[in-house]
Amino acid sequence: MINKLHGSSHELRGDPYRFTRRHLLGVVWGASTVALVGQFSVALYNYLKPQPVVGGFGGKITAGLAKEFKPGSVSYIQAGHFYISRLEDGSFLALWQRCTHLGCTVPYVSAKKQFQCPCHGSIFNRRGEVLAGPAPRPMDLFPIQVVDGKLIVDTSQAISRDKFEPSQATHV
Ligand code: FES
Repeated sequence: MINKLHGSSHELRGDPYRFTRRHLLGVVWGASTVALVGQFSVALYNYLKPQPVVGGFGGKITAGLAKEFKPGSVSYIQAGHFYISRLEDGSFLALWQRCTHLGCTVPYVSAKKQFQCPCHGSIFNRRGEVLAGPAPRPMDLFPIQVVDGKLIVDTSQAISRDKFEPSQATHV
């Protein structure tokens, strides 16, 4: 019918369904348009969808392989602003470096096996418990997941606590 409207010579030859070069170009153009719109839609969706924070403070941080932390050791994970404290029984705590008094950064003093706050003298042990000073509660924790032997620490939500409980530690 289209051929008739356009006065195509194909119908005149008695073959109204013959696939012409014009048809081919139309199909190619249509397919290209659909592909382009599809690609644009996917790119737009990927741009607009909310992205989880990964790899920096405020997101999930890979602290390392669990087996690389020795029992009784404390390791600073700078990207996440926390310490991995591996307790003597092999379990793990992720302790936020922030002092629970007024928020100063608390360094670990390995010679004393203590966290010592330089601001007002609070001292914490490797479980984050307060040994001295004005800090009102133990160091906050971040949740730990073990995935393929690696410790994944979620720094999006600090857990405050009144005291240490063994259930707070993560076992591999
Ligand atoms: S901020 Fe750490 S003791 Fe005051």
